[in-house]
Amino acid sequence: MKMRLKIRRFFNGLWNQHYIASRHIRDATPVRVQSFNTRSHNKIHARAFEPVWLNDIDKLIATDRTKTSDYHFLDVGCGKGISTIYVKERYFFKSVTGFDFEPDFIEAAERNLKYSTVKGPIDFYIGDAGDWLLDDQRWFLFLYNPFSDHVLEQFLRNNIDVLRKTQSVLAYANAQELETVLDFPHEMVYRLPHIRSALILF
Ligand SMILES: C[S@@+](CC[C@H](N)C(=O)[O-])C[C@H]1O[C@@H](n2cnc3c(N)ncnc32)[C@H](O)[C@@H]1O
Repeated sequence: MKMRLKIRRFFNGLWNQHYIASRHIRDATPVRVQSFNTRSHNKIHARAFEPVWLNDIDKLIATDRTKTSDYHFLDVGCGKGISTIYVKERYFFKSVTGFDFEPDFIEAAERNLKYSTVKGPIDFYIGDAGDWLLDDQRWFLFLYNPFSDHVLEQFLRNNIDVLRKTQSVLAYANAQELETVLDFPHEMVYRLPHIRSALILF
């Protein structure tokens, strides 16, 4: 592994550990896809659960100097809710929501919020990105590498009209399928190669 990546991993890992412990978040344990209990046919396209490097959320939000109070935040594939809780504590969005297709993670997310020092409200839902329909409002979507291009395409195809009409934003951390997103109409993209991420304005 390259030295820069090793250093980044070390410091970001420490920051995550510090955040999780200091906010009394109980469960951040990574889970492999084979252990998911979801019955969704999209399980074969899923990536494992592990929390994002929380620092990267700050970098993505700072990229376009997003005025967060103009947006509703949605964590697409929120896992155990750690990224969602982090955003709720640090930023003021109109609302904060997370959904995941793995029921065990949504239970864990609700427990994590309940026993943490962070105040809600956060809405957590069980839902599959493949058939999730966005309400007609301005979104700040957050994705941390949740699934392969198959589900990403389904999600965008179902929601691109709302995203365009409302001038929503997609913050994509570890943007492995960025080219799939860019096949859809959008206004602008900021590429952040040093953190393998991108911010897409629709
Ligand atoms: C890498 S984890 C990111 C978790 C969280 N956003 C964070 O950063 O802490 C990706 C999550 O996407 C979820 N996921 C995968 N496919 C999904 C789908 N089709 N619909 C909803 N969630 C999905 C997984 O269950 C997993 O929890």
